[in-house]
Amino acid sequence: MKGLRFGYLFLAVAVMLLLAGGSPQAFHSGGVAECTGCHSMHSPAPAGDYLLVASDPSSTCLSCHQHAGDTGPSGYHISTAEADMPAGVPPKQRTPGGDFGWLKKDYTMTIRGTTSTEYGQTHGHNIVAADVGYVADTDNTTAPGGTFVSAKLGCDSCHDPHGGVRRLSDGTYANVIHTPGATNAPVIGSGSYDTSVMPAAGQAVGAYRLLRGLGDTSQGVDFAGVAIAVTPATYNRTEAATQTRTAYGANGIDTWGNWCATCHPDMHSSGNYVHPIDQSLGSTVANNYNAYVKSGDLTGSATTSFTSLVPFAENTGDIATLQSHAKNNNSYLNGPGSSDKVMCLSCHRAHASGWTEALRFNVEGEFMIYNGLYPGLDTTPSVPQFARGRQSIETQAAYYDRPVTTFATYQRVLCNKCHAKD
Ligand code: HEC
Ligand code: HEC
Ligand code: HEC
Ligand code: HEC
Ligand code: HEC
Ligand code: HEC
Repeated sequence: MKGLRFGYLFLAVAVMLLLAGGSPQAFHSGGVAECTGCHSMHSPAPAGDYLLVASDPSSTCLSCHQHAGDTGPSGYHISTAEADMPAGVPPKQRTPGGDFGWLKKDYTMTIRGTTSTEYGQTHGHNIVAADVGYVADTDNTTAPGGTFVSAKLGCDSCHDPHGGVRRLSDGTYANVIHTPGATNAPVIGSGSYDTSVMPAAGQAVGAYRLLRGLGDTSQGVDFAGVAIAVTPATYNRTEAATQTRTAYGANGIDTWGNWCATCHPDMHSSGNYVHPIDQSLGSTVANNYNAYVKSGDLTGSATTSFTSLVPFAENTGDIATLQSHAKNNNSYLNGPGSSDKVMCLSCHRAHASGWTEALRFNVEGEFMIYNGLYPGLDTTPSVPQFARGRQSIETQAAYYDRPVTTFATYQRVLCNKCHAKD
């Protein structure tokens, strides 16, 4: 009898796993979650609006998405509590978007006799979450290249807590919350993963990461299109042995450049002397990417060249294709074709990173790797302009724990992955 019950339980858990797209503790399930996870009808947080359970929207999100005592990287956590990352210890999460904990990491360095501080707030998007010590950026009062006010920046600026955007069975998208009259297909689960089920006729799955889109103007900016990608079901993990490949897509106006440009319009417009965005790589750059292994080594091949430190957008919105590429076991490491695109996320992470401007790799200084070691105050020789006030384990963590031998002993910046100038 007991054995039978256990069997049912096991089956139930297996079904839950399947429905959640690999996520054992579903909450949002691709759409609006249990209301009372975020709102309290009769005992909301005193300081908050909207009957939220915490002082502000982002503190509400972080009441689940950050856990004190986390040994990470783990599950859906995207922030490390301060107590878990004292000086010299890096944040613990390794998600594609990056750990907001880097925003609390100030680094002080003395380079050629001048002491300066690289403030944590330069490491990414400073969401306002009063309960856990995240405050608005003091340098950028608005989004650079745009007007979105930094004091209003929260998780809910980019993610729709109610998950309005959904992907329908024919591969098109609808936003029933922000587009009255749109097809009202119910969301059956997350659409973000390689394991997410394809919705049948009359069903839908959530848009990638519940991101805002498709006519959502509730934040005072117009999220016109949708952001397309698929990520492996287990995405918050060390890349010491195998990479976590998010397969980013692009289809018509549904590009990552357009999505980010919702708040950063002038970082994008052509003719503004900005780096090409959403532009096809062309054969020269695609060939560079595929040949580039590391500084001084251009012997790579198109089937093994992918690095999650320099991803590109595939020139497709087809989810089945992206699902077959979003792997975390190195089973698909193909590099780009000439029609694949350079996009904001080729260089930046969406949340935060170990480097300034949420960059995926350090561009401050000519060497990322020096003398075969991750630069740090603890390495020999310790070169201040490469160590930049960090311990070598912090530098390694910013590269998601890759062995240093992934790179050349004197590795230059990863702009070279596309430009091969080293
Ligand atoms: C993941 C957290 C979360 C969940 C789950 C959630 N909400 Fe909200 N809700 C918010 C946040 C944050 C706001 C503040 C405004 C915003 O960010 O859009 C909000 C605002 C609201 C508002 C006022 C503003 C508006 O958009 O109309 C209503 C009404 C509301 N929620 C109802 C609901 C209901 C009903 C449910 C359950 C079906 C629900 N919420 C589930 C986070 C959540
Ligand atoms: C009650 C706990 C809880 C709260 C509060 C919460 N989350 Fe989550 N969140 C989860 C869990 C559990 C998962 C993984 C399972 C899932 O996706 O349902 C998750 C997953 C996610 C994902 C990935 C979903 C996907 O389908 O790709 C996003 C994005 C996200 N949360 C954003 C938010 C935002 C933004 C808020 C605040 C407005 C928030 N969460 C509040 C528990 C929570
Ligand atoms: C909802 C509006 C919004 C969206 C969407 C948005 N940003 Fe931002 N971004 C801001 C604001 C506001 C700031 C200024 C506050 C700050 O720097 O923390 C900012 C700052 C930045 C910075 C500078 C960070 C720093 O520490 O100086 C970078 C880089 C950036 N955004 C990149 C992106 C990329 C890439 C995307 C798309 C994945 C994106 N943004 C989408 C609002 C947005
Ligand atoms: C500037 C826009 C922006 C803000 C602000 C933002 N996110 Fe995200 N988030 C994204 C994007 C874009 C992705 C997809 C990143 C990728 O796959 O490369 C993402 C991914 C995620 C994921 C999946 C794990 C990961 O990191 O890849 C979770 C969970 C999540 N966000 C929750 C949150 C929570 C909670 C907050 C607030 C503390 C927040 N986000 C603030 C844009 C944002
Ligand atoms: C080829 C790599 C690359 C791409 C693609 C790229 N950026 Fe950047 N971005 C950088 C670098 C490097 C910096 C910091 C140094 C600098 O400003 O030149 C930066 C800085 C920024 C800043 C901070 C500017 C400031 O004044 O503080 C923002 C905001 C930003 N990028 C947003 C974006 C957005 C949005 C996109 C896509 C529309 C994008 N970037 C595409 C490499 C890139
Ligand atoms: C994912 C690939 C990719 C990455 C990474 C990348 N670029 Fe580019 N870059 C391109 C493409 C594509 C072009 C346009 C085609 C060309 O000029 O060859 C371009 C063009 C340029 C140009 C010429 C712009 C013009 O108007 O003529 C410069 C300069 C440049 N990139 C610098 C950088 C720097 C610096 C970095 C690192 C911070 C970087 N790129 C990272 C793909 C990339």
